[in-house]
Amino acid sequence: MEKSSFPLHVGIIMDGNGRWAKKRGLPRPAGHSAGAAVFKKIVRYSSSIGIRYLTIYAFSTENWKRPVEEVGALIKLFKQYLQDALRDFLNENIKVCFLGDTSAFPQDLQNLISETEEVSKNKTGMVLNIALNYGSRAEIVRAVRLLAQEVKSGKLEPDAIEEADIEKYLYTSGQPDPDLIIRPSGENRISNFLLWQSAYSEYVVMDILWPDFKPKDLDWALEEYARRNRRFGGV
Ligand code: IPE
Ligand code: IPE
Ligand code: MG
Repeated sequence: MEKSSFPLHVGIIMDGNGRWAKKRGLPRPAGHSAGAAVFKKIVRYSSSIGIRYLTIYAFSTENWKRPVEEVGALIKLFKQYLQDALRDFLNENIKVCFLGDTSAFPQDLQNLISETEEVSKNKTGMVLNIALNYGSRAEIVRAVRLLAQEVKSGKLEPDAIEEADIEKYLYTSGQPDPDLIIRPSGENRISNFLLWQSAYSEYVVMDILWPDFKPKDLDWALEEYARRNRRFGGV
């Protein structure tokens, strides 16, 4: 594949865990466990094929609406995942960042999050963004509040506000926008993921549930991306 047709930044909306479990007569958390195993595999695979930025949507600001047992099971899985990551996964050259308001999680999970960021911060390979309690609208509100502080303190004139000023306060500050966003599970919607950053991203919706997602499915999405003609408003 030519380098120019290979995305620098890939986003994935991990979706379909619940339906995968239901199809098998299992409780929804069983689907999340299966999904977590796929997450690990796809992270490693993405890094091995040279993706530079991978952003995975793992828990949205709206996912708190789910039954308390399901949210509890997800939090338990996030802890397990980060414990495992700290044990073996960080031997790989991957830098982990978290997007979202992680202060809403229990303290032990918050500690694991900071530890993971800390021990991986000097890695030079793929950047793995894990979107956890992430919502793009909340992210934009946060950026606007921080900008308003700058205006209030006299550092910035309202008329001088530019796109770059907003970008600098997004969780993805300093990173390139996603080129490709993949949504498994067949749903044709964004569900509050990277609204600002995805202005010109290519969307690929796939009719496969996340726990069934294989490296070859990522290959397929990359081939589909390579066939797209991105114009960014030009001709
Ligand atoms: C994605 O799978 C995982 C999270 C949103 C945390 P879902 O749990 O949304 O699975 P479906 O969409 O109900 O099948
Ligand atoms: C989006 O999936 C959020 C994550 C994958 C973390 P949802 O399953 O929550 O989205 P909707 O409810 O189908 O829009
Ligand atoms: Mg879903």
